[in-house]
Amino acid sequence: MNYCYAGKENDREKAFNAIWSNEINAVFSDVARYYDRANNYASLGLLNRLRNRFISTIDIQPQHKVLDVCAGTNVIGISLLKKQPELDVYAADRSIAMQQVGRDRALHHGFQIKSFICDVHHLPFPDNYFDVVTLQWATRHLRVINVFSEINRVLKPGGHFYHCDMLRPANKLVEQAYYIYLKLLMGVIPRLFRSGPASLKCRDYFIQAIRLFYSTEELSALLAELGFKNVIGNSVLGGTVGFHKALKPLTDVA
Ligand SMILES: C[S@@+](CC[C@H](N)C(=O)[O-])C[C@H]1O[C@@H](n2cnc3c(N)ncnc32)[C@H](O)[C@@H]1O
Repeated sequence: MNYCYAGKENDREKAFNAIWSNEINAVFSDVARYYDRANNYASLGLLNRLRNRFISTIDIQPQHKVLDVCAGTNVIGISLLKKQPELDVYAADRSIAMQQVGRDRALHHGFQIKSFICDVHHLPFPDNYFDVVTLQWATRHLRVINVFSEINRVLKPGGHFYHCDMLRPANKLVEQAYYIYLKLLMGVIPRLFRSGPASLKCRDYFIQAIRLFYSTEELSALLAELGFKNVIGNSVLGGTVGFHKALKPLTDVA
């Protein structure tokens, strides 16, 4: 199928393929030990508030099967289990280091999260398996059409996909101010936490990844094109962040 954002995906692939294949995993191995602290400092606590807001949009029922894609240190899985301890939560992530931190954090809270170390472009789950799929702060590093199609495949008909990421602000002024802020941040955080060579090498990438990324409206359009229904996209903080909720319809009829 010829998707309207196939060109954008090609551009992203061309620009970032080497980093996605080689460096990103090294970056997350490097940052795993301080990832949650760094996020909290860098955002002055804002990321925790955003996460709480994102979690509050997620409808879950006891015994729901939930998959958190690119689960990292399991912040989403743990927050959902705090809200509903009878959930059956799965985590998929390529980084052993991030998931090790996540496993320890889950156990510390008395929760068990089933961990799958994999590349999320191929999810190791059957079709129509999950009631809810979540994905937070990672889509910039992924081939979006592939991963969203996989998420659609593993969701049960009637199930929901909840997405949150840093997006490209539609407003040009906000966009430029955002890049200045990110550049400052990329100067300070690696020094503060004594980042390794992989993270230092990727400082520019983290800004470039947003330049070539989607706005809230574009991501809504892409989700609809991939067969999701009732797509709701909410811009937060001037469009620097977007929350999306999308339904896998009960029938496959587009
Ligand atoms: C910025 S962290 C976000 C972690 C978590 N979702 C959160 O909200 O804190 C990005 C995560 O995506 C994972 N990741 C990136 N590319 C991946 C891929 N192709 N397959 C699986 N995991 C990937 C990284 O290992 C990392 O844990």
